[in-house]
Amino acid sequence: GLPTCLLCTCLGTTVYCDDREIDAVPPLPRKTTYFYSRYNRIRKISRNDFVNLKNLKRIDLTANFISEIHKDAFRRLPQLQELVLRDNRIRQLPELPSTLTFIDVSKNRLGHKGIRKEAFKDLNKLQHLYITDNNLDHIPLPLPESLQALHLQNNNIQEMHEDTFCKMRDFTYVRRALEDIRLDGNPINLSKTPYAYMCLPRLPVGNLI
Ligand SMILES: *[C@@H]1O[C@H](CO)[C@@H](O)[C@H](O)[C@H]1NC(C)=O
Repeated sequence: GLPTCLLCTCLGTTVYCDDREIDAVPPLPRKTTYFYSRYNRIRKISRNDFVNLKNLKRIDLTANFISEIHKDAFRRLPQLQELVLRDNRIRQLPELPSTLTFIDVSKNRLGHKGIRKEAFKDLNKLQHLYITDNNLDHIPLPLPESLQALHLQNNNIQEMHEDTFCKMRDFTYVRRALEDIRLDGNPINLSKTPYAYMCLPRLPVGNLI
């Protein structure tokens, strides 16, 4: 195949492969830190697509046709901070490395079983979690204390519990970081759980009807 830096543009350790009509992740230079491959035709992320990329910090695969991701594809990336998989056809999230600070999987096909139990529990650096425009029927729990923004608009979430965000047995608990929760566009009535927001700095955005 064509060497990646001829097919794409390499600037320092950043590789830009936007809009090149590629249908698979190209072999990346070992020192790649930022990889952009938006507006392509990638359908699948295989186990070894990102193998041995010890410096990789950001992957952006916005607007491809990805429907399948090997569960370990991102697991052994020791520095990965930002994972952007917006606007694809993903039904199942893979394992996520605990170094992530930013995840955007909006506009995909994540439903009831798309996110495994406690998927975000150990991501103790995670600040931004965007899962808008999917088919989720629940809020993925538990949410790490580091989380600042949780965007879940336009899903199918119908209920939440009083201790989804707070701790019903500990009224002194404050979840200071989480100041941006979006639940609009879900069939949920936020007025039904008035105690669920007591520990938060701000009310979630959504239907208070
Ligand atoms: C939403 O919940 C509140 C509190 O339980 C209730 O008074 C209100 O009628 C509900 N609204 C709808 C549209 O069900």
